[in-house]
Amino acid sequence: MKRLFSGAQPTGTLHLGNYIGAIKNWVELQNKYDCIFSIVDLHAITIEYNQKSMREKILDLAKTYIACGIEPDKAKLFIQSQVKQHTELMWILSTVTPLGELNRMTQFKDKAKQHSHNINLGLYSYPVLQAADILVYKAEFVPVGEDQIQHIEITREIARKFNFRFNTDYLPEPKELLSKGARLMGLDGDSKMSKSKNNFIGLDEDEKSIMNKLRGAKTDPARIKRTDSGNPKICNMFAWHKIFSSEEEQNKCSDGCKTAQIGCVDCKKILCANINKIIEPIRLKKQELDKDNDYIIDILKNGAVKCSNIAEETMIGVRDILGFNI
Ligand code: TRP
Repeated sequence: MKRLFSGAQPTGTLHLGNYIGAIKNWVELQNKYDCIFSIVDLHAITIEYNQKSMREKILDLAKTYIACGIEPDKAKLFIQSQVKQHTELMWILSTVTPLGELNRMTQFKDKAKQHSHNINLGLYSYPVLQAADILVYKAEFVPVGEDQIQHIEITREIARKFNFRFNTDYLPEPKELLSKGARLMGLDGDSKMSKSKNNFIGLDEDEKSIMNKLRGAKTDPARIKRTDSGNPKICNMFAWHKIFSSEEEQNKCSDGCKTAQIGCVDCKKILCANINKIIEPIRLKKQELDKDNDYIIDILKNGAVKCSNIAEETMIGVRDILGFNI
């Protein structure tokens, strides 16, 4: 099986957009690829964070992945800082990374703006660590969202520079695998679902809470009274139906909306039931996992051992290429 690597920062509870856009895809990929999924704690410390809640956030992310269907027997799941070869390779790769390339990174520019009081070297060299994450496993594919394409491009550039400098083809250039999953808009209908925009449905919410949020979600603004007909084409909730509801339900809502036969609340109730069908099993499984931290810690340690073995094999070759083979 071809190898695939992806990473995610432990930044707190995940939402429906994360599930539809990424995790669901990862769950499918684990049957087709040799998957390595990392919780990238070393990346997370490039901005201010709360040390006291780091452990909990890491465990929470691991539990969420497992609750969503990542199977530790199929995919390797581990904490980045537990595999030391990532940082070793990062240093080596930093000696072939052009500053000009790092200066172009839009994520760095955005974060530098957001955290202008703390523009540190780690924030700047973040993409070099990301390249090391991928290259230390010689991964062929990297499933990511569009915002990460630039980081995969620079990973390829860094692999090329390394290979050229040391006259080798040791590090393969990875390709991004853009998620097939839909890009879910937020409840506001204005922007992508995101925690910071507070337009999200969390994977830890129950049916009541989901319905409460849906009640406030934006629909066709021209439809003020129930007797007004609406235009499903411009209704964000109808866009959600296309993701979550059966064709029959979609038709019912679409036709009903145009003819004012069905109200927005009824439409949202159908949506709520369908979303809850996805979220409820995840929420319940997660609650179960919450009772057994040791089980999760075991999975992560196991993952780290397996990944260290692969990463060390790569590093033996890298050290040899560098002339460090005494
Ligand atoms: N930078 C990625 C993000 O913000 C997280 C990440 C770190 C990553 N290392 C990675 C993603 C390696 C893919 C591969 O989402």
